[in-house]
Amino acid sequence: QNAIYRAGVLGRTPIVPTDFATLERRARRRMSAKAWAYTAGGAGDGSTMRANREAFERWKIVPRVLRDVSRRDISVELFGRRIPAPVLLAPLGASDLVHPEADRAIARAAADLGVPYILSNQAGVPMEECAAAMGSAPRWFQLYWSKDDRLVDSLLERAKNIGAEAVVVTLDTQLLGWRPLDLNLGSLPFSQGQGIAQYTADHTFLQIVRERLAAARAAGIKDTADVTLGSIRTLVNISRRFPGRFLDNLRSPVPRAAVETFLDIYSRPSLTWQDLITLRNRTDLPVVLKGVLHPDDARRALDIGVDGIMVSNHGGRQVGGSIASLDALADIAGVVGGKATLLFDSGIRTGADIFKALALGADAVTVGRPYLYGLALNGAQGARDTVANLIAEFDLTLGLAGHVSAREITVESLSSR
Ligand code: FNR
Repeated sequence: QNAIYRAGVLGRTPIVPTDFATLERRARRRMSAKAWAYTAGGAGDGSTMRANREAFERWKIVPRVLRDVSRRDISVELFGRRIPAPVLLAPLGASDLVHPEADRAIARAAADLGVPYILSNQAGVPMEECAAAMGSAPRWFQLYWSKDDRLVDSLLERAKNIGAEAVVVTLDTQLLGWRPLDLNLGSLPFSQGQGIAQYTADHTFLQIVRERLAAARAAGIKDTADVTLGSIRTLVNISRRFPGRFLDNLRSPVPRAAVETFLDIYSRPSLTWQDLITLRNRTDLPVVLKGVLHPDDARRALDIGVDGIMVSNHGGRQVGGSIASLDALADIAGVVGGKATLLFDSGIRTGADIFKALALGADAVTVGRPYLYGLALNGAQGARDTVANLIAEFDLTLGLAGHVSAREITVESLSSR
């Protein structure tokens, strides 16, 4: 932290800007139109994304003076592991749109800082390769509950094998949100072959595709009409990972059933609490439910014995016109009352934002878009610097507000006037 601050005072210009507005502006110039649309876009008219920011702006920190803040401890303990700051890297799919090294670079950034990286179900690099780049640094795995339970089990087993310390089940994406920036460009990443590396590295998934193809053949379906250029790229991407093994099984032209499997299988729209209850038999890792915004759902989650809850509206990308994530936090913190780990995301852009989320009850926050912009600007180093900046700013905010530990911050540290 000191190093960042000192560099600024000494007049060295950082490659990664230290404020979000400049970071975002510069990153946009480095990104393709598609990468920008997918990363920066929100659901509907963008009102949820705006609400996320407005909610932070309504709360003000009330600093206290003349307290010894020379020694501060911002570390927190999550699921038995002490981490250096109350910050995790959110799972972000299709980061291969943004940078060729994608998740592997992000993994190195997280490992360098010692903060957990939540590996996405829709990653551009298989989880095994990310883990290999992380040594013993903490990683978690984020799951989308597939339509096929065999795939759920396979992903959970792989997560266990790579040493994931928790599983985050994302509940707000049973259906993909209405995202005009992507839709207007006609560019859904999955259909272009980005964000599918967890699948193409998964033998159970390949087995499922083969079964679907066989069923389509048996039914006499020879429909190739809907095969788009994007879908063919997807298959080429698969064939690169499985040279000679997978595409050989496909006839040419590509059957529609193979292509549709990707878009169809990643998430289960019919998912209910009943399915969630089976999780305990599927994994012994701590389970965190991501995307909880209603106190009753938080209660339900506690009833089925989850280990953590993440208040999140997916960075405003799923439900247009939804409640700001921060506005949902205090009530849910009231329900959780320390009985489970409480995480928060959606809209964290500054160290002060981290302070406010902790004051309203979060144990730690996850950060999304900012580190992807850092990645766009300067690869692994850029992602690392972006998160390091946020942590440094949080540490300063904490001290300047008169506190020495993340645990001390409560709603008393804030004013809404
Ligand atoms: C996401 N998010 C996300 N969440 C998830 O559970 N799995 C995923 O694969 C993705 N993919 C993804 C891609 C991109 C480009 C973005 C911006 C977001 C949501 C993410 O984990 C997190 O909830 C938000 O990004 C937090 O909001 P901020 O920090 O981006 O405002």
